Amino acid sequence: MSSPKSILHGGIHYPLTRALQAERSLTKDMLMYPMFISDDPEALDAIASLPGQYRIGTNKLVEFMNPLIKKGLKSVIIFGVPLKEGVKDKTGSRADDPEGPTILAVRLLRKTFPDLFVACDVCLCEYTSHGHCGILREDGSLNNDLSNKRLAEVAVNYAKAGAQCVAPSDMMDGRIRSIKQGLMDSGLAHKVMLISYSAKFAGNWYGPFRDAANSVPAFGDRRCYQLPPNARGLARRAIKRDMEEGADCIMVKPGMPYLDIVREAAEIAADYPISVYQVSGEYSMLYHASKAGVFDLKSIVMETMTNFIRAGATLVLTYYTPDILTWLDEEQQ
Ligand code: PBG
Ligand code: ZN
Repeated sequence: MSSPKSILHGGIHYPLTRALQAERSLTKDMLMYPMFISDDPEALDAIASLPGQYRIGTNKLVEFMNPLIKKGLKSVIIFGVPLKEGVKDKTGSRADDPEGPTILAVRLLRKTFPDLFVACDVCLCEYTSHGHCGILREDGSLNNDLSNKRLAEVAVNYAKAGAQCVAPSDMMDGRIRSIKQGLMDSGLAHKVMLISYSAKFAGNWYGPFRDAANSVPAFGDRRCYQLPPNARGLARRAIKRDMEEGADCIMVKPGMPYLDIVREAAEIAADYPISVYQVSGEYSMLYHASKAGVFDLKSIVMETMTNFIRAGATLVLTYYTPDILTWLDEEQQ
């Protein structure tokens, strides 16, 4: 005979009672769409490594966005992709080119879609000739101080162009402090959210992105600045440090393999919004596995959203955003 408390099924027999088991459920506000902006204004190039995603030129952007805005898209994060010859140099000096793809896209989006929340990823790897995320010393290791100075300039220039959020993904030590100070000095700190990619792990999950963003390192890898996949303690330290340095929101990346870290972040940074990035490798893996019949794409993607939110995320960066907006509407009916 079961005891009264051993009966769990009574709480999950109906769709409504199942829904009530969640602490929080997904809404459209919780989705941020990562977008690649090409320096060819006419581009609308399908990205082979990210099926369904495009490198978009600024002359094609508004048309691309219109249906997404209609579906209820609330926020985007911009990645500039310079493809022209001669744009990259040792210090990534074109990252904040006023005529470059990121700043042009920010201005255009803010002007055309006043209700859209526009974030910019802040990094140098798309703009450096060596493809690393900071400025290097003679011996090829990172010069943290120079990198931070440069990253702060870039972040401030994105904010001046109208970005409401800057999200440094470079992983230099101390960049949150330096960017926050830059925003304060330019009188922008009160209206720009600083999302720190605090717990960003090195590994295999970013391959399709680097292809999309043209940011493969020319030599070596990123293991001396992104976190080792085994490092729970270091992730906790990075989260605490970035809170101290002035982050407004903490990010964990990749998502699915690091749900334990999302939970850590939700506990350590309990008073902060927590974001999780379902990265390019996760996107492509789910896409190809669905194509191969392993599972249904909508079901699996929506399940991963539930997983993120259960773990503690309040914001999800995912290339599936356009699809999820549609699927959320279908579920309403
Ligand atoms: C740039 C950056 C990367 C991603 C976000 N910002 C690539 C990297 O660190 O190599 C990865 C996003 C993805 O894989 O979807 N530093
Ligand atoms: Zn980078």
